[in-house]
Amino acid sequence: MTCCILLLFILLLLIMTSCVCASLVVNVTQSSYQAEENHDVTLEWTFTTRTDGSLNSLNIFCEMFTDVRFFILFQLHKGVEVSKSRHERFAGRVQFDKDVLREGRLRLHMSRLRTDDSGVYLCYVFTGYDERSKKCHLNVTAARATTLRRDPPPTESGTSPESLGRIGLFCVLGLTVVLVLSLFALY
Ligand SMILES: *[C@@H]1O[C@H](CO)[C@@H](O)[C@H](O)[C@H]1NC(C)=O
Ligand SMILES: *[C@@H]1O[C@H](CO)[C@@H](O)[C@H](O)[C@H]1NC(C)=O
Repeated sequence: MTCCILLLFILLLLIMTSCVCASLVVNVTQSSYQAEENHDVTLEWTFTTRTDGSLNSLNIFCEMFTDVRFFILFQLHKGVEVSKSRHERFAGRVQFDKDVLREGRLRLHMSRLRTDDSGVYLCYVFTGYDERSKKCHLNVTAARATTLRRDPPPTESGTSPESLGRIGLFCVLGLTVVLVLSLFALY
């Protein structure tokens, strides 16, 4: 009999915890971001918040993966940012929007992007009971060297083929005039 009650109790506990678990959802607003070198980007995750609006039991951990390793991007411990855990490659380049955290938004603003910032960005959200994670991709393309390539390279003499043609035309005209004049002079 006690065994039966114990079993029922365990079953009830399981159902209850699974209900609590199901309440935490983590989403990404965009699964993939495209940006250019030296520009900025804002990566955003959304998650279900506690009804009391408290951040005391909120822990977040974000990391960036490349093919070879990972780097810690962001950490929030009991609602407070732990900036010292951030990898030095992101030092001074990541800011988070504290105001929207309570609404269940994690906005990470990354500035001065580098091409090697390209990769997978994964954030884990932990509440008192549960943990969920979601990833997005960032692709940073090299800045196009537009300022360097805008003007066509000058020819060696500093004149364009067009003006060379014009000079040729003047030469031919000049020669013709001289020829005609000398012909007149002969007769
Ligand atoms: C997550 O995404 C689903 C489906 O788009 C949506 O129904 C849900 O409200 C979202 N939850 C959060 C916390 O953003
Ligand atoms: C990154 O963007 C460039 C330019 O749009 C594209 O050619 C390349 O395939 C993208 N790479 C990935 C991994 O999405």
